[in-house]
Amino acid sequence: MDEDQGTQAHGAGTGGKGADARLGIAPDAVGGGDEPGRARILAALAAARYHGFEPDPNDFHNTAGSEAPSPADLAEWLREAGLWAKASRMGWRQLMKLTDPVPVVLLFSDGSAGLLTGVDPIERVALIKDPQGRQSDLPVPVDELRLSEVWTGEVLLVRKPREASDGSDNFDIHWVFRQFLREKKMLRDLLIASLVTSILTITPPFIIMNVVDRVVIYGNMDTLVLLAALWAAVVLYETVLEYARVDMVTLLSGRVDTRLNLHVFNRMLGLSLDYFERHPAGEIHHRINQLYLVRNFFTGRLFELVLDVFMLIVLLPVLFYMSSALGFVSLATAIAITLIVVVFMPAMRRVTGQIVRAETRKSTHMVENIHGIRTIKSLAIEPQSKAEWDLRVADAADWRIQGGRVANWPKTLVIPFDRFMQRGIILLGAYWIVTGTVTLDVGGLIAFLMLGSRLAVPFVSLSKMIQDQEEVRMAISEVGLVVNNPPEVESVSGGLRPAIEGELSFENVTFSYPGQASPALKDVSFTVPAGTMLGIVGKSGSGKSTIARLLQGINRDYSGFLKLDGNDLREINLRYLRRSLGVVLQDNFLFRGTVRDNIIAGRPGLTLEDAVRAARLAGAEEFIERMPAGYETFLQEGSTNLSGGQRQRLAIARALVTDPKLLILDEATSALDPESEALVNANLLRIGKGRTMVVITHRLSSLTDCDLILVMHQGRMLDIAPHRVLLERCAIYRQLWLQQNRHLDPQGTRHAAPAPVPIEAD
Ligand SMILES: Nc1ncnc2c1ncn2[C@@H]1O[C@H](COP(=O)(O)OP(=O)(O)OP(=O)(O)O)[C@@H](O)[C@H]1O
Ligand SMILES: [Mg+2]
Repeated sequence: MDEDQGTQAHGAGTGGKGADARLGIAPDAVGGGDEPGRARILAALAAARYHGFEPDPNDFHNTAGSEAPSPADLAEWLREAGLWAKASRMGWRQLMKLTDPVPVVLLFSDGSAGLLTGVDPIERVALIKDPQGRQSDLPVPVDELRLSEVWTGEVLLVRKPREASDGSDNFDIHWVFRQFLREKKMLRDLLIASLVTSILTITPPFIIMNVVDRVVIYGNMDTLVLLAALWAAVVLYETVLEYARVDMVTLLSGRVDTRLNLHVFNRMLGLSLDYFERHPAGEIHHRINQLYLVRNFFTGRLFELVLDVFMLIVLLPVLFYMSSALGFVSLATAIAITLIVVVFMPAMRRVTGQIVRAETRKSTHMVENIHGIRTIKSLAIEPQSKAEWDLRVADAADWRIQGGRVANWPKTLVIPFDRFMQRGIILLGAYWIVTGTVTLDVGGLIAFLMLGSRLAVPFVSLSKMIQDQEEVRMAISEVGLVVNNPPEVESVSGGLRPAIEGELSFENVTFSYPGQASPALKDVSFTVPAGTMLGIVGKSGSGKSTIARLLQGINRDYSGFLKLDGNDLREINLRYLRRSLGVVLQDNFLFRGTVRDNIIAGRPGLTLEDAVRAARLAGAEEFIERMPAGYETFLQEGSTNLSGGQRQRLAIARALVTDPKLLILDEATSALDPESEALVNANLLRIGKGRTMVVITHRLSSLTDCDLILVMHQGRMLDIAPHRVLLERCAIYRQLWLQQNRHLDPQGTRHAAPAPVPIEAD
């Protein structure tokens, strides 16, 4: 979204030009209040609102550490919200030239800011609004002298993103080329350098021609000295120019490569969870990895090609000028070589496609095995996995061999033609000179030989280019297959950001997973007030986790309404929603890093105190304090140095640290040993204080304290009531309860009761 060109803001929005109150503009008149930094945020917010964007001030990161928000941080904040923003410097003259400025944020030296809503070049005043003033306040006209007292020239330019993420931003070959075209100046220099280099490379043969003809044959020493000097100059030039050219290529490719990587990763992160569930990680990984082919092509071969084309343009006329007959022969040979390469291209393309597919299958298997290594080892199915790997490796190797064989044909067939061009043509030239068909000196013949042998290279690389370009197109489409999927949210900036209390209501919610015949949720309706501790029970597959997924906005194509404090969940900004929720699953990912880092998880504004408080609430404090470095203990990837129960309590602390108003625990304690489970459960009431909590579990005994328990059965809601009521009126609940708590049966029928029936999955 960030672009480094274009300082001209556009759009309408000059308001209040007729304001006749010529007020002074002392720093505190615009900044106002004790908090000048607030004015900067407000001003940037006002500029964003003008374009219909609503960035969340809580998302603002003050990385500069200064008291007042730095322009760069402000720009970054707005960019994250989806706007185009740039911190820049401007003089008064440039300001006056903003003929139609949309709000531009002027950053004042005292840390506050003003909002430039228009300029009047005739009166020579800028119209500035106080961001902390009332909406209806008119902008104040300020002249150069007064403004210079408070303004040092720092501005924040804000406008609508030029390319919305609606397809025009798709990752394809045009997109990649556009990234190059943005570097116009560098491209121009590069083209000039390439042209001059190719002219310089054809000069030495002419020098040699003169050496042979004038120096060797007539023994002219002076000419030799002159030619030697000329030769040295040309070589020196060529060397320096080649260095500059390669340097430019490196720089240009580096820039484009960076943009490529940032873009692809951003798009990948923006995909819905759903997408990752439907595609194996190995496949996604492999596809995105194809980016390296794109990079290789655009950073290396493409620029060599440019050089080759220039070489042809310079070389051909020279050859024909020296001798048209020999020129024709050389051209014909070069074309023959090209034809051979072209004829084999379709076969090469087919094999290349197969190689890529075989490699994808290989790496998919590899990644799957790395992820599932625990299961593979514990099931002792290494041999099966290895057998599968062998198959895939053999397949890939087969295709590679085939590819090599196919490629060998054109390579071999061109050898005679190539050798003829390199050396053989001298025989023909000599024959023609002797028979008088061609008038050429000995030196000329040698020069022609040296130049003519260069003709084949550009031709062949041009034709190879067709194949390379094919390969790159394929690589680009592989990457595109992943990143061009629709992003999770159309606009990160959209949606409400209501304060969340925690009242939850489902109204006739029906939902089916894509491709699934029967709905996972059927007509679910219930409401719980804020602060409720809601348990959800039901057999496996009854739709409990699906309820949790809908609440997190992972799946959004349900029918009916799901409301949080009366706001339709689909209207709430997704990122805001997820930040406001705490979620703990059965298996939680802990990052490589310290215990404290894992609890805070990079969320801004949280301190060690918050982490400690959350850990205490989650019952994790006790074991963290026993660890060698306490909160600074380093956790390995996958946190192998923690027990399952400790991992889970850390995950609960991580969910609690932001003090969410809605906390979802989906089987969060199922994998725990009874002791750790008891620890967490004992804290459940404390954890649930002041927030709505949704607890999904198989173990009903941990739900007896819940305010309400929702009983699910085959996607339908059977009942919702407190434990005691359910025991009396809900048969399924009673059955589940009795299966698990036979020993508590008040009638004491323990011995008479039939053996427990396992809960079977639907
Ligand atoms: N990602 C998915 N894609 C397709 N179908 C799914 C997906 N997740 C769940 N389902 C289906 O939706 C139904 C409800 O699943 P859900 O995960 O909500 O059950 P659950 O009550 O949480 O079960 P469990 O107690 O085993 O966790 C099941 O029939 C399941 O097959
Ligand atoms: Mg589940």
